[in-house]
Order: sequence, then C-alpha cells, then structure tokens
Amino acid sequence: MTGLRVDVLTIFPDFFREFGRTSLVGRAQRAGILNVVTHDLRAWAQPPQRRTDDYAYGGGPGMVMMVEPIVAAVEGVRDVDGRVVLMTPQGVPFTQARASELAKHRNLVLICGRYEGVDERVRTLIADEEISIGDYVLSGGEVAAMVVIDAVARLLPGVVGDAASLEGESYGTGRLAYPQFTRPEEFRGQCVPPVLLSGHHGRIDRWRRAQMLHRTRQRRPDLLPDECLSAEDWTLIQEIPASEDEDSL
Ligand code: 6GU
Repeated sequence: MTGLRVDVLTIFPDFFREFGRTSLVGRAQRAGILNVVTHDLRAWAQPPQRRTDDYAYGGGPGMVMMVEPIVAAVEGVRDVDGRVVLMTPQGVPFTQARASELAKHRNLVLICGRYEGVDERVRTLIADEEISIGDYVLSGGEVAAMVVIDAVARLLPGVVGDAASLEGESYGTGRLAYPQFTRPEEFRGQCVPPVLLSGHHGRIDRWRRAQMLHRTRQRRPDLLPDECLSAEDWTLIQEIPASEDEDSL
C-alpha cells in the first residue's frame, strides 16, 4: 500500500472496530490512503496464561505492562522505517505540529499503555517518542491513539477533499475558527449575522477574520499575543462591539 499504515498495539482491540470503519478514518481506509491494523498484545505474550502485565518491582498498587510482549509485537509488526510511539500521560503534549510531522511517515506503531504504567524499558529500548494528548489521566492509551490517528489521517493527501478546508481552520494557523451558521436564518430568536447573507465576499472575509481574531484573543490569548497582531488586525478587532465580549455575556 502507498499511504500510511498505523499498527496499534493494545490489550483492547475491540475499541478500534467501529472507529476504523466510521467517518473520516473509515473513508481514508476505503480509499487506500490509510490502513489501521489493530494487534492484540496477548498474541505476543507467553502461553498458556498470556499475561501482558505483572506486579511492580518495589511494590505499590497497580500492575505494570510487561516489556517482552510489547517488544515482540513491535518487532513483529513494524516496518524498518516505522515510527514507534508510546502513548502515555508522561509523554510530550500532542499538537497540530506533531500531527503534521507524523503524517509524513509511512508506518506508525502506536503502543497503548495503561495508566498504571509500562515497563520503562519499552521507552528506552524501542519507543522513538512518547505522546500525551493532554493534562488529564485516561485509563489507557486507546482513546489517545484514536485522537492521534484521526488528527494524522485528515492531513494525509487526498483525505480531506478541499485543501482550503485545512487552511483556514483552528490551530493549523494558530487561531480559533470563526463562527459558522447554516439554515434556518432565524432559530428561537437567534439570527444569522446579516453580513453573511449580504453576498458581499469582501465584507464577509473581513467579518470572519475579525471574529477569528476576537475569539482567539478572548479564549486563547496564549495563541495570539499583542506583538503578533498587525495594524490591520487591531483595526479589525476594534470593529467588534464590546457586547460580543464573552465575559460580558
Ligand atoms: Cl496517551 N494515555 C493515558 N493513559 N492518559 C493520557 C494520555 C495517554 N494522554 C493524556 N492522558
């Protein structure tokens, strides 16, 4: 296959069944651009018990995922140039920039850890990087792996039809998206902003740009500090009435 193959190593392969068939990821797979292959880690564990976790050296609560089944699985499934990613809450925070970088590979191997822990030698011996999807704790890396697969899949050439829909969007540009509306024009007293019905593309673009800047400054000032605003940006932001400030709602 051309495109990207993602091997997922997990003790819960069922998690990924519908995920792989549904929505954008499903479409990418049917188009032959993406191939998500889920592997049950137990298949690489020692029979007859096929344990994938064990007690922690040094004691303490919680089980630790064993190194042998994980290393055997990675060595069994990865391409020579595959990128091996360990999903853990201790990882580097996942960003759009990381997604873009991962989308350049031809093979990713995502190891789903459980939150109690993974033997440290998985990290030192075979993981190329460790990713966390945010500052909260999930019971396992499976949902986080789906987040990474979704974010990467939509960046693969040919998955999102209109390249323009990748361009104007949140985070790709370091800005939050402007508000969108579709029919009806009025719902429970809330009307679509008249400028969007004007058919005047110059004014619509200006309004959207102003909204994008305003929203970003209100909700995520860290993404758009003062020194990153151009003179035109300041003018646009000043066009928005104070009544649209979200704190005052
Ligand atoms: Cl990748 N795994 C787990 N268990 N928890 C997380 C996470 C990953 N990212 C954020 N929280």
